[in-house]
Parts: sequence; structure tokens; C-alpha cells
Amino acid sequence: MSEKKHLGICYYPEHWPQEMWAQDAKEMAELGITYVRIAEFAWSRIEPEPGSFKWEWLDKAIETLASVGLRLILCTPTATPPRWMVDKHPDMLALDENGNQRKFGSRRHYCFSHEGYRWESRRITEILAERYGNHPAVAGWQTDNEYGCHDTVRSWSQSAHKGFQLWLAQKYGTINALNEAWGNVFWSMEYNSFEQVDLPYLTVTESNPSHRLDFKRYSSDQVAEFNSEQVDILRKLSPGRSIIHNFMGNTFSFDHYKVGDQLDISSWDCYPLGFHSQYQMENPLGTPEGYWEDYFQQGDPDYQGFHHDLYRQAGHGRLWIMELQPGPVNWAPYNPIPLNGMVRLWSWEAFAHGAETTSYFRWRQAPFAQEQMHAGLKQTDNKPAQAFVEAAQVAKEIEALGPFTPCEAPVALVVDYESHWAHETQQQGQDFSYFRLVLGYYRALRQKGVDVEIIRPASQDLSPYKLVIVPALYALSEDLSENLTAYVEFGGVVLGGPRLGQKDKNYQISQKTLRLPSPFETLEVLRVGTGPKEFVTVVCDMADQERGKAHVWQEEIITSLPVLFEDTNKQPVFMGENNIYYVSAWADPALMNSILDEVFKAAKIEKVELPNGLRRSKTSIGTFYYNYSKNKWNLKALRLAEAAELDGLELPPAGVALVREGIDEL
Ligand code: GAL
Repeated sequence: MSEKKHLGICYYPEHWPQEMWAQDAKEMAELGITYVRIAEFAWSRIEPEPGSFKWEWLDKAIETLASVGLRLILCTPTATPPRWMVDKHPDMLALDENGNQRKFGSRRHYCFSHEGYRWESRRITEILAERYGNHPAVAGWQTDNEYGCHDTVRSWSQSAHKGFQLWLAQKYGTINALNEAWGNVFWSMEYNSFEQVDLPYLTVTESNPSHRLDFKRYSSDQVAEFNSEQVDILRKLSPGRSIIHNFMGNTFSFDHYKVGDQLDISSWDCYPLGFHSQYQMENPLGTPEGYWEDYFQQGDPDYQGFHHDLYRQAGHGRLWIMELQPGPVNWAPYNPIPLNGMVRLWSWEAFAHGAETTSYFRWRQAPFAQEQMHAGLKQTDNKPAQAFVEAAQVAKEIEALGPFTPCEAPVALVVDYESHWAHETQQQGQDFSYFRLVLGYYRALRQKGVDVEIIRPASQDLSPYKLVIVPALYALSEDLSENLTAYVEFGGVVLGGPRLGQKDKNYQISQKTLRLPSPFETLEVLRVGTGPKEFVTVVCDMADQERGKAHVWQEEIITSLPVLFEDTNKQPVFMGENNIYYVSAWADPALMNSILDEVFKAAKIEKVELPNGLRRSKTSIGTFYYNYSKNKWNLKALRLAEAAELDGLELPPAGVALVREGIDEL
């Protein structure tokens, strides 16, 4: 879809005196904003008491914004059920894994499985859609807000317990089938009926991993069902409007693809510095050395791109950024001020990865409550903040550049939510993280200047890609296995591993063979070992040259494929020929780089080694370069371009360039 790019803004009219609205609307329009998202958390103002509605303010807000030509994204306010709702349905509150109730007083306190709250969600959606669904200024709807944020997918409530039992009965049919699938003979865990099955929590030691995995699947399905109920109502009562959800970054607790299938557009909330800090604190060795400090005010150069590509896949190609960080935020362990220019860079990066609209959070900084330390485009005193200036620049540049779309990527990377749950369920080594592993592949690919298409584990047409990478899919479905095998037969190159296809969908190891599924059937994994990230093993090629290091995960493998790299114990680490390659350990960045060099040769993929923090994306109007680093990079000196638009050939920190010439050769 080659459309002009747009800017949007998140606005909370209920936070401001009505006298400010007209001026706000005028300034938004003058700034070049197209879309305004409103009413996201406004339930207590719309329905202050059960069944009694106050519409005047929202009618007026909509008219004021529409009168200057702004288009609206209305929201269902279900992420913030008001206090009276909790009185009405005291057991709608979610329970955490320790059985503690999650209290009223912030947001996302509801349990997805609670039937009473599900009814309330449908009711408010219907009422809003009936009132505004055909308003000419309403361009779309956002369902709820950031499913899964604040660890809210899984609830250990009575409602979830009942729902889970029904879900299991539907899935397995008989209790014996469940006992069999979970291996409940182990430790005398067998059940006589579905009513006996508890939620997998508060057990003395580890609960059965298949039990836990099923509960994760169940909880994910609840999110998709909750969303689909709103979507069905909106489709009926608000025809022709785009239905969108704003996914959060760093959230893997539900299957975003399933929710994405219900939407017209997938969007996400992009907070590069918040994520960089949060991720670093959760996972101190999770990012490559030096990244924490070097990118403190810019964000991890691959984290945004990864999520853009992931959520673009969830939206079958249609992507928005619903919220973009405009300055310091309030919620991360550390909240730095973005380097000047970064808000503009993040905006262009999103567009280059396929976002149709980039919307900033929020118009004006709130002077009260939880987010009073969170920047907006405007300060609390209503003066423009730095992000206002950068957004204005982006608005002008959008006009100048016109429409464009990303080019087809040469590499596909399979990303699977269920594998994240599976590996988290039985980590085996506590440094193993599916997501970190996949991000490692993505990072290495992007450092080579290559665009990546994130694809689902389901069978799909692989023929557009020169290389398909399949890391750590815990179970390789028959479909995908057949598809990959056919792809390889027609000359496509695959790189798999580590921890690939070692279990079945019931989370059991095969009793028939330890061979991996086709096209990796020449590999047999005998044993696996894990260790801390700091315990590294040197990996060399067959000429005894060091190619990097392995850690975290190691497979003892026998294979008829030629071994290309091995560790100091002569264990194969990287093997393959023609178009099938496998890596049997967790590769550090240097090793990953060497591995990709080999498979790129096989797949005939052109690459460059981009210097620190420089990234690029190829689009229909040329290649965008963005500089996340603190250094200047000269694109000509790097032999990347002869001429460049936007910031030109000499790219300062936070600079963005568009290189039009030579697109075909890149
Ligand atoms: C998002 C959320 C917004 C706001 C913002 C602050 O996660 O959707 O409502 O809280 O974070 O950065």
C-alpha cells in the first residue's frame, strides 16, 4: 500500500479545560497532524455511574477536533474499568501468581476470563460504536490499550480456573487424553476429571511443563477472544473504519499474530529509551557490550526495527506507530533525555519499516498523576517541547518525500510466540531466552545492512526469500517442515538452530528418533548442556581460525553435514552445505557474524558491514540511513553513497539520510 505517510497524536481532552481545546486542535492541524487518538482511558467521564452517560464533553471534543479537519481514532476504554465497576463485579480483578488480588488504582486490573467484565466490555463498545460509529470524522478504532502490558495476560482467578478447565475439556475431549499428553503418570499427577485440574501455581516444586504451557496458550486465547468480541461489534456498527490495537513492545505473553488477524492495522507503542533501560535492567548481559552506555540517549539500534517488523507481520503488512516516545518517559528504571534529533530519527525509521502513520504520545505533558514526569510535544506550561520542533520537521519532510513502501527483504526470520512460552517454561539454563536469541539473529542481519522480514511459523510462500532463518522453534510443525523442505529443494537456503524441533506440540520428546525434522533430518541431537553467559567456549573454523564464541546453550550433535566450525572439544557448532545450515550453540555476536557470512555466500546475499549504530532500510524511493551512534558517519567515505538527501552524506548523531541512487545494487 503506497500511501503518503501521516502523523498522529494522542490527546486526552478530559485532562484539560474545554477553553484550551480549540487552540489545541488548531495547533495540531498547523503542525501537520492527521490523526488524533482520544477517549482511551475516559470511561469514568463517559459513564460516571453505572448506566448514566455524559456525552456533552466528548461530543464537543470530537466536533472541535473535526472542525479543523483532524481525523479521529476513538478507543474502547476497557483498559481502565472505573471504580464502580469493581463494586459491581468484585471478582473481575485479576490475581497474580501468588494468589494476590491486583487492586484498583492504576489500570489493566481486569481478568480476561471474567464473564461479567467481558459483558461490560461488549456493552461499552456497543454504546460507543452506536453513538460515534458513523461519524464522518471517525477514521478508526483502537481496541483497549496495550494488551499484556504490566504483566496482565495471565490471571490466577476463579474465572480463569473455570475457563481453563473448559478449554482443556474442549482441547483433549477425555481426561485420559490430557493425562497422556502431559505425561501425568510422572509423580502420580493423574487426574480423574477436568474439574480436578488446578491452575499451575503454588506447587511445592516445578509444576508439569505441559500444564504450564497449556495455561499460557489458554491465557493467550482469552486475549484474542476478548479482542474479537470488540472487533465484531465495531465491524457491525462502524463500517468502513479501520480497527487497530496498539501492541506494547517487549511483550510476548500472548500471540500477537492471532490478535493481528482480527485487525485491519497492527500498531505498537514505541518507547526506545524506556525499553533500552527496562531491557538492560532485566537482562544485564542481554545487549552487546557497550550498548547500554553508547545508546543511552538513542535506544538500542535494533530494538525498534525488530518490533516494527514483528508487528508489521502481525498486521499482514499494515503498521502504525500509535505512540512514539517524545522525550523522557517516567516508567523505566532510568529515563534519559533523548539526544536531540532522535524523535525525528525514530519517526523516519518507523516509516522506512513500513509504518503508515506515526503518532506521538502525547500532545501535552500531564501536570498530575502517574505520568507527570512524562514528556509530551508540549510542556505543562503549554510551550512547545523539543519533540514539537522535531515533529514539525518530520511533517515538512513527509510532504516533500511523498508516498513509499519498504522493499521486499531478502531474509525471512521465523518468530513464534509459542516457542517463547515453551522455552520460558523449561528454560533448562537460566540465561536462555528465546526472544534474546531471535533478537541476536536480527541484530546481526541488520548490522550487515540487510532488511529482514519477520514471518510466522505457519506455512507460507517462502519463494521471495534468499534465506530463511529458523531459530529455536521448539516444535517444527509438519506443515512448516514440508514447506521448508520444498523451499530447499527449489534452491532456497535455510539456517536453523539451536534448540530446533526437539519436542512435539504436547511438549514431549520423541520416542521414535532424536533426528530433527526435515530438512534438518541429517542432524541428531544426543544431549544438550547449558551454562551461564560468562562461561564461553572458543569456536574455530576447520583451518583453526577463531570465529567467535559460544555460550548459554550447547548441543551434542551427530550429523552427516560437513562441519564448518567446532569448539575446543571438537564438538560441531556450525555445519552445513549447499543450502542447509545448522548452528548447535548460542553464538556470541562475533560467531553469529561469521556464521552469517557463510550462509550469505551460499544464498548470494550482498551485504556491507555497517559501522556502529548506523542502520539502513531499503524502500521504494531509496535507502534510508539512520545514525544511532554518537559518531558522525560519512556515507561517501564509507562507500555507501555518492549523494544523499535529508541530512546529506555527513550523517551527524541522530541524523537521517535518504540515498536515492543505486537502489538496485544495494
Ligand atoms: C504506554 C501507554 C500510555 C502511557 C505511555 C507512557 O505504554 O499506552 O497510556 O502510559 O505508555 O509512556
